[in-house]
Amino acid sequence: MELGLKGKVALVTGAGSQIGFGKAIALALAQEGCDVIVNDIDIDGARQTAAAVEKLGRKSMAIKADVTRGSEWDSMVKEVMAKFSRIDILVNNAGGCTPPKPFLEMSDKDWDFDIDVNLRSTRNGTKTVLPIMIKQKSGKIVNITSGAGIHGGMFTSGYAAAKAGIIGFSMGVAKEAAPHGININCVSPGVADTGFARNAPPGLLENFPKTVPIGRLTTTQDIANAVVFLASDASCDIVGQVLVVSGGVSP
Ligand SMILES: NC(=O)c1ccc[n+]([C@@H]2O[C@H](COP(=O)([O-])OP(=O)(O)OC[C@H]3O[C@@H](n4cnc5c(N)ncnc54)[C@H](O)[C@@H]3O)[C@@H](O)[C@H]2O)c1
Repeated sequence: MELGLKGKVALVTGAGSQIGFGKAIALALAQEGCDVIVNDIDIDGARQTAAAVEKLGRKSMAIKADVTRGSEWDSMVKEVMAKFSRIDILVNNAGGCTPPKPFLEMSDKDWDFDIDVNLRSTRNGTKTVLPIMIKQKSGKIVNITSGAGIHGGMFTSGYAAAKAGIIGFSMGVAKEAAPHGININCVSPGVADTGFARNAPPGLLENFPKTVPIGRLTTTQDIANAVVFLASDASCDIVGQVLVVSGGVSP
């Protein structure tokens, strides 16, 4: 299968975590021949990931930017365009969740955090990069959502709302972008042992595999494989969809 990824330029947000999906996605894209810009608020982590991309023989650059802020997207994308002159792939992966608590105990600050880091960041990234892709008449945007956004998340209602928002947003904008040769889709990961999940309630990572039909947690490589597919020429006919990668866990 021809993926058509050689020489493409990809930007992956939240790829500084050394145990997270973003790094695995960055390396998988680099393995397929992409140059990869690595974003995170953790610049040391982003630099480590960028070095790992370069080790694979591809160009990279680490950029510190808070993806919840439109102004930081503007300067990040300016920097990328100055060095790479194009952006073929955007992976809106950065995300997070306030510590789980009942909805009625959630403060406005908790709510804003969940919405900003997941949904506003994805909207900001899409708003900044889409005009470049429209000019190029091609592009791929992959947004990382969650099962919580499909079947709800008990004690994580803000996170669930934000991740559901990502799905609705992606489906809508995907239809507007498709006539320009741009595909926008989502990946919904199952529970994986990343920095994000290590903040989950005690016992989740140990007990969860028993509830997964394939009997194990999702891996960062599982998610990277799905993102590579949606970023490739092999998925040109897929528009505004959610690819659930969760070992058979419903939905
Ligand atoms: N791990 C899971 O079980 C799971 C399941 C479903 C969805 N997800 C989603 O996967 C995505 C990646 O998370 P992960 O599991 O790899 O966790 P992770 O904590 O290992 O990585 C998340 C990264 O995002 C970065 N980040 C956070 N806020 C940021 C900001 N404002 N600007 C830039 N970078 C920022 C963090 O510094 C970190 O490096 C998230 O969107 C998360 O919601 C995770």
